[in-house]
Amino acid sequence: MKITVASARDVDDVLVLQKKYHVNSVSDEDRSSGFVTTLFTKEQLTALILGEEGLFIVRKDGALVAYAMAASWSFWSQWPMFAHMIGNLHTLEFLGRQLSMDNSYQYGPVCIDKSVRGTGVLEMLFDFSRAKMAERYPILVTFINKINTRSFAAHTRKLNLQVIQEFEFNNNQYYELAYDTSVPVMYRLLRESPPSSAE
Ligand SMILES: CC(C)(COP(=O)(O)OP(=O)(O)OC[C@H]1O[C@@H](n2cnc3c(N)ncnc32)[C@H](O)[C@@H]1OP(=O)(O)O)[C@@H](O)C(=O)NCCC(=O)NCCS
Repeated sequence: MKITVASARDVDDVLVLQKKYHVNSVSDEDRSSGFVTTLFTKEQLTALILGEEGLFIVRKDGALVAYAMAASWSFWSQWPMFAHMIGNLHTLEFLGRQLSMDNSYQYGPVCIDKSVRGTGVLEMLFDFSRAKMAERYPILVTFINKINTRSFAAHTRKLNLQVIQEFEFNNNQYYELAYDTSVPVMYRLLRESPPSSAE
């Protein structure tokens, strides 16, 4: 497996994976294991790469098997959902700080092909993007649709994101979550479950 920051030549493969798990095209069998809702165009993904260095991908034997997005609030502000979240940012606190467009960024969507789910790809991809974005922002913010129970379980139980509020938008119910970007995922896991000695 190889994790990298995506370049423009990766965009077509991202579009294929996005379509496979988009709410409008995901198979009935896969729907209960989560889906992505915002449909990004080739131009938007290219802008995410060129303007934000905010698309992270995993390839296995050359095939693109996962992606995660992360970008400044100003990039996301073109979508009504994110404009809504930006409007609320100043009412939220995390790490004892009032959230702002300067001290936080938005992570997600993330999408992992079902062939590699549950294998640690999420942890590796999340941590890779966290480390890159930590150079610019102390706080990660994201949202999860309440009906996406798998994503919520993975992000709260495995990655330890914290719920900072619940909200409604367009008749959907969401959790909003945050994470301290200075905390590497693997370090945290090791601290919580120290390796046993081989006595
Ligand atoms: C959401 C997603 C990124 C999570 O990555 P993943 O590799 O599947 O996550 P994991 O399998 O490591 O962890 C999921 C956990 O939820 C549990 N789980 C599985 N299905 C579940 C369900 N329907 N409801 C609740 N929990 C569920 C799993 O048991 C696992 O926990 P465990 O390892 O302690 O048993 C991935 O499933 C995915 O890309 N789904 C499609 C797109 C999507 O939903 N993206 C997120 C929205 S932006």
